[in-house]
Amino acid sequence: MLIDGYGRPWLKLRIVVDDTCNYRCIFCHFEGQARFQGSKLSAEDIGFVAEAAMELGVEDFKITGGEPLLRRDIVDVVDAISRLGPKDLSMTTNGYLLDVYAKDLLSHGLMRLNVSLHSLDPRKYKFITGVDALDRVLENLDYVSSLGFKQVKINMVVLRGLNTDEIPMMIRYASKYGFTLQLIELMPMGDGFPIFSRYYDDLSDVITWLNRHGKLLGTRKDLHNRPIYEVDGVRVEIVKNYNNPTFCAGCTTMRLTSDGKLKTCLYKEPVVDLLPYIKARDKEGLKKAMVFANSLRKPNFVEGVSGGLGSVRIRVRLDKLTL
Ligand code: 5AD
Ligand code: SF4
Repeated sequence: MLIDGYGRPWLKLRIVVDDTCNYRCIFCHFEGQARFQGSKLSAEDIGFVAEAAMELGVEDFKITGGEPLLRRDIVDVVDAISRLGPKDLSMTTNGYLLDVYAKDLLSHGLMRLNVSLHSLDPRKYKFITGVDALDRVLENLDYVSSLGFKQVKINMVVLRGLNTDEIPMMIRYASKYGFTLQLIELMPMGDGFPIFSRYYDDLSDVITWLNRHGKLLGTRKDLHNRPIYEVDGVRVEIVKNYNNPTFCAGCTTMRLTSDGKLKTCLYKEPVVDLLPYIKARDKEGLKKAMVFANSLRKPNFVEGVSGGLGSVRIRVRLDKLTL
């Protein structure tokens, strides 16, 4: 197992499998990379990276994007990782195409799903995601609930004055299906940056509400020290990253960009280009590059130091430009 200079093991790899999405969420951080950055890794390439990472002690893989289900070979991607026998293999998706892929993903070894659902109100859902698809996603969630995934987690980004009032309703919804609810604090990253001052909610009222209506079960040491609550039988996880040294102290993750670079942190630019090693199937070179990247990992937010935003980029939204 690799440990960085701050005593944090590297246990998890987030893999950005494509650089595009059919949604336009108002806050999208796009995992800290650009849309259309280039999608250069085949399913076999991704399997090769996962194998090298596993040999260095990585146990968990999260497939993310962009929207992973826009990749036609997404089942092959899942297969390439799952055949290695990881401890955990999950995917973050907006849920729009789950009706097409969910069954095959499960039968090829995907264990858990994170489905983004930021509102149960069709108008707000459309405002937040740019797509009028709430009914479709709810139908898909209904469908996946019976398939037998180890866990289905609802990802809800909390937006002040926009969806905070929906949290109790979202808990009722999650309870109906036995889903976990993950409440995510808005991050000032990518498209989240320009809207941050308007919609940022530090979750303190939410946490007060959770303490009153539920109970704190503990914190997940393996996942950024995130607090876990139980409310009406629903597991509610809090992802509070902004300016939070405790979160960074518990970070065990690195990210692989869609064009084959390794990022030590969401807020940092890529540090190592793995692509040449991947394409040459140079396992030793690849592992050395990963060891080097791990040695550069450091917490972004540190106790007593006002939070740095690292290399936050403000991206121009081409779809919003008028010529
Ligand atoms: N802040 C917080 N969460 C975000 N997500 C995307 N952009 C942001 C942001 N700026 C969410 C997605 C997905 C998860 C990976 O992160 O909606 O659910
Ligand atoms: Fe697509 Fe996810 Fe970004 Fe929304 S947050 S635009 S679903 S990648």
